[in-house]
Amino acid sequence: MHITRRDLLRWGIVLGGGATLASGRRSSGADGNLPPSPRTDPFIVELKAGQGIPPVATPVAAFPTQADPGNCLNPDGTTAFHVHGPRTVPANTEFFLIHETPVVHSFHPQLPPNVLWGYNGEIPGPTIIAKSGTPQLVRFVNDLPINDPVGIGEPITAIHRHGGFQNPEDDGYPLDTFCSGQSRDYYYPNRPDKGLLQNEHSTNWYHDHAIDITGPNVYRGLAGFYPYQTPIDTGNENDPPPALGLPSGPFDIGLVFQDRRFDAQGRLVYNTFDHNGFIGDKFCVNGLIQPFLKVQRRKYRFRLLNGSNARVYQFFLSTGQPFVAIGTDSHLLPAPVTVQSIRLAPAERVEVVIDFTNFANNTEIFLVNRLQQTDGRKPDGLVSPGTQILKFLVQGTTPAPDPSRVPTTLLPVTEGPAQLLPQVRVQRRFQFERSDGAWVINGLFFDENRINARPTFRRPEIWIIESGGGWVHPVHIHLSEFFVLSRDGKTPPPLERGRKDTILIGGDVGREVRILIEFDDPRDTPSTTPQRYVFHCHNIEHEDMRMMGQFEVQP
Ligand code: C2O
Ligand code: CU
Ligand code: CU
Repeated sequence: MHITRRDLLRWGIVLGGGATLASGRRSSGADGNLPPSPRTDPFIVELKAGQGIPPVATPVAAFPTQADPGNCLNPDGTTAFHVHGPRTVPANTEFFLIHETPVVHSFHPQLPPNVLWGYNGEIPGPTIIAKSGTPQLVRFVNDLPINDPVGIGEPITAIHRHGGFQNPEDDGYPLDTFCSGQSRDYYYPNRPDKGLLQNEHSTNWYHDHAIDITGPNVYRGLAGFYPYQTPIDTGNENDPPPALGLPSGPFDIGLVFQDRRFDAQGRLVYNTFDHNGFIGDKFCVNGLIQPFLKVQRRKYRFRLLNGSNARVYQFFLSTGQPFVAIGTDSHLLPAPVTVQSIRLAPAERVEVVIDFTNFANNTEIFLVNRLQQTDGRKPDGLVSPGTQILKFLVQGTTPAPDPSRVPTTLLPVTEGPAQLLPQVRVQRRFQFERSDGAWVINGLFFDENRINARPTFRRPEIWIIESGGGWVHPVHIHLSEFFVLSRDGKTPPPLERGRKDTILIGGDVGREVRILIEFDDPRDTPSTTPQRYVFHCHNIEHEDMRMMGQFEVQP
């Protein structure tokens, strides 16, 4: 039997008196001290449809919805919080069926294949496209093996659509688990908060969120993209205004960055005893180590997602040209922003448009990460030249036809700080820090029986989120996206002036952020009882080691 972080918590090794074992193992087991992964040659594996670019999930015929299974962890004395019977969904609901299954996956031709866990056996999972105004019912079936020889992750899952506006029972609350042989239905209304155009979503992603084991389960492969089509971001670059005409179809590509580590035999390695945050030494894009992508001479939209457990990136283009950013986290920006580099913490998304029109045939352009990090506690700083992670290989002796556009106005904010700040009556402060070999918020470990905050629907609040000590924490709040008012009292950097659902604190980005947040009720018929959601550090090892709290929104 392999030991998991769940076992450590269950046995009280870390949170109780037995901290010696954990800290002793930790000092000898920090990832930087693990033997390096075997050598692999960069840019020999192609990122293409069917290999790294996952299929788009297709709807299935409507099926009867089912009662939730309850928490399959009950033997531990924990209970499911949200359990309900079969439900009635609107007539226009799209149905999907996704199986969590083992999959034989090749990270790189010079390494032997590894058995990962994938949604529908895909790495990353199939892309599920949400159409604003069309609800979806997704049944996830857990077909993961109970006796898994690899020993990374556990066949206990909960699905969170990160950035999504959905009911608590469909939000992947960490105790609403379903185990091997069970399934659970998730209903997504796919409406913007408050019905406002400014709140139409752009890039969500979905990933495992089971209590204590999210880190290894995501590391094993359980993550995928969940982009939206909206009245202005239609998914078709040929649509006339008011559609934005952003690059679409094969020219709209999700890129998820994840670091991995392998032993001398090329087997995937995960370190259960490193609670600082797992850091790999191989850079994967969509599950492939340092791949190349053939691009035509035209514009592309790339949805960059940091799907790593603990690593922070800072991306540059090898040509020195800037990025044109069009979105951050779950929303498009009000207007495109030109930036020289992109800092991306775990779970953050930045969408960019890169124009390859003026490059000659066979030009090689690299996406470079210059932020070095060897420990989950924080990045070491910028280095030069950094690591080339992805190669764009330009194809074509002449420019390709390109009907796509990048309008100067994308998604204007009509209800921002100017409108919401005068309504604020409540301010809360959350301190994220280390304690007893694990991680706390305001001095407290996650406890499913404690509510850390009770905001009210549609009453905006100010939250002050700060890092105690020199550690960095990418803090994620479920249900809503927020405005960053300031960082250490100063105006936030350009990419943090749109809406965010994850924000990095600590280290060189600054100790504290002030955010403006408002929660809307996602129910089709308004809630009459408090609605419970989590917020947590998205360094997933910190999250698993209890850096999580919950809020209950009052009707
Ligand atoms: Cu992406 Cu609560 O997580
Ligand atoms: Cu979320
Ligand atoms: Cu953290």
